[in-house]
Amino acid sequence: MSEQPAEKTEKAERRQFRAIKGTRDILPPDSALWNWFEQSAREVFESYNFRDIRTPIFEDTSLFARSIGEDTDVVGKEMYTWVDHEHQDLEGLRSFILLREPTFENLETVRLFNTQVKDFIRLARAGMADGTIPRTHHNERIVQDTSVVLEHYVREQVDGLSASIKDSIHKFEIGERITLRPEATASVCRAYIEHGMQTLPGNQKLYYAGPMFRRERPQKGRYRQFYQVGAEVLGPSDAPAIDAEVLEMLLTLFNRVGLAHIKLYVNSIGCKECRPKYVELLRGDLRKVKDQLKEDSRRRIETNPLRVLDSKLPEEQAIIEKLPRISEHLCDACREHFAKLKEELELRGVAYEGNWRLVRGLDYYTRTTFEVTAAGLGSQNAVCGGGRYDGLVELLGGPAGIKGIGFAIGTDRAILSIQEGGNLPKLPGLAVFIAWMGAKAYAPAVAIAKKLRARGLAVELPPEELKFRKSLGLADKLGAYYALILGEDEAASGTFTLKRLSDGQQDKLDESALIARIESELRGPNA
Ligand code: HAM
Repeated sequence: MSEQPAEKTEKAERRQFRAIKGTRDILPPDSALWNWFEQSAREVFESYNFRDIRTPIFEDTSLFARSIGEDTDVVGKEMYTWVDHEHQDLEGLRSFILLREPTFENLETVRLFNTQVKDFIRLARAGMADGTIPRTHHNERIVQDTSVVLEHYVREQVDGLSASIKDSIHKFEIGERITLRPEATASVCRAYIEHGMQTLPGNQKLYYAGPMFRRERPQKGRYRQFYQVGAEVLGPSDAPAIDAEVLEMLLTLFNRVGLAHIKLYVNSIGCKECRPKYVELLRGDLRKVKDQLKEDSRRRIETNPLRVLDSKLPEEQAIIEKLPRISEHLCDACREHFAKLKEELELRGVAYEGNWRLVRGLDYYTRTTFEVTAAGLGSQNAVCGGGRYDGLVELLGGPAGIKGIGFAIGTDRAILSIQEGGNLPKLPGLAVFIAWMGAKAYAPAVAIAKKLRARGLAVELPPEELKFRKSLGLADKLGAYYALILGEDEAASGTFTLKRLSDGQQDKLDESALIARIESELRGPNA
């Protein structure tokens, strides 16, 4: 028998939910590896006197558009953006208006249209007045023009004008455009400006960890919700020693977490003095070979010729190799900055490789750019990217002369690479499983669990009594280091039987000997 429609709907409603495409759950035991990685980053960054900053996960869309650049893939194609507002009434009214096809052959349709548009204008004005609708020039003009056109439309009975009224109403912005952050540098700069952090002493050294969102095609190492751990230095100085310290810190972290086969690539893409001249030179040369390039690169000749250097297409490589290189076109100040940076890196023992094609996909960079690749990641092998962005704070309306540099590590990729490398850290697991049996053993079991937990040990206390074999079997499956056996005999004598699960070695101990034994074995010098 075929399913009735109602049954079908019910089935669909009972369907299993799955994480949205490009997002995923990080489950134990992997989550412990994530925490360890982020904690290692915090410790390394704090040893360089960086401090945590937490910014919102969504921001004004134009913050990202202005910082990252309208012509970039991130802003052009990948952002999760929506209009945030509290005016369902206005939204509903707008849908009705847009559906109407009024005509003066049927005056009732015009009357209805006229009333609804008037209502829309009235509500829009009220919203702008009480600050719940953006009071922008764009919105003010729409409201103004629409009421004039509406009057004209009704008075002169010009059917064609209803389309232009609908068009204006369609363009009215009921709320702010909000975007889930695709990266955090723009947010950190926004926070720096908003809180006047330029008045604080010295450079501001800030770090962050958290989710970012980009609507990319998901594949290994590329997700729509992914995680970054990043750091930024903002302040009046652009000394190359800052760039070098940031890179030293990054590699210190990568060494500490055992990331295998990493490579640091460094470049300088000049400043607002020298780069435009180089870009024009590049554009000129690219135009000459346009016919040999593919669609994307051809388009980029006009929109952003530097990005052509990023091309991975095999057929374009020989052409790109012959193009002029920015290192030969840097102004004196940028050349000197880059030379000093290299000296500083050598001084600090930071191994790097120059890569003149490293231009990065975000528009805010000036001078230093860098990327780190790691093993085991396939085509998505960039585990970290970053660089200098000296004009960004000013571009966002902040004080002039504030410089910036930073990086972001793709946590998903760093973890993948560590896992593929097989060099996993030994993380503390379940220390003690309390195998209690008999009603009289329950109270001492609860008490000892509390005491061990207070000493920072992970303890599992079964909520219900289990048979002896089942209890020890579960302790084993949970990977406990010890089983603490507590039967009615032990309860009566105030002792505990401590069994090491790896070799079955067991001893009867009183409470203080028990605690001393566990601590010395799990926390001692050979733990
Ligand atoms: P980015 O190169 O766009 O730079 O991203 C940095 C890192 O985030 C990448 O190297 C990669 O590891 C990771 N990542 C990017 N997109 C994805 C994705 N869809 N899935 C998984 N991982 C991804 C920035 O975001 C700049 N804000 C870095 C920066 C900080 N520059 C200066 N300060």
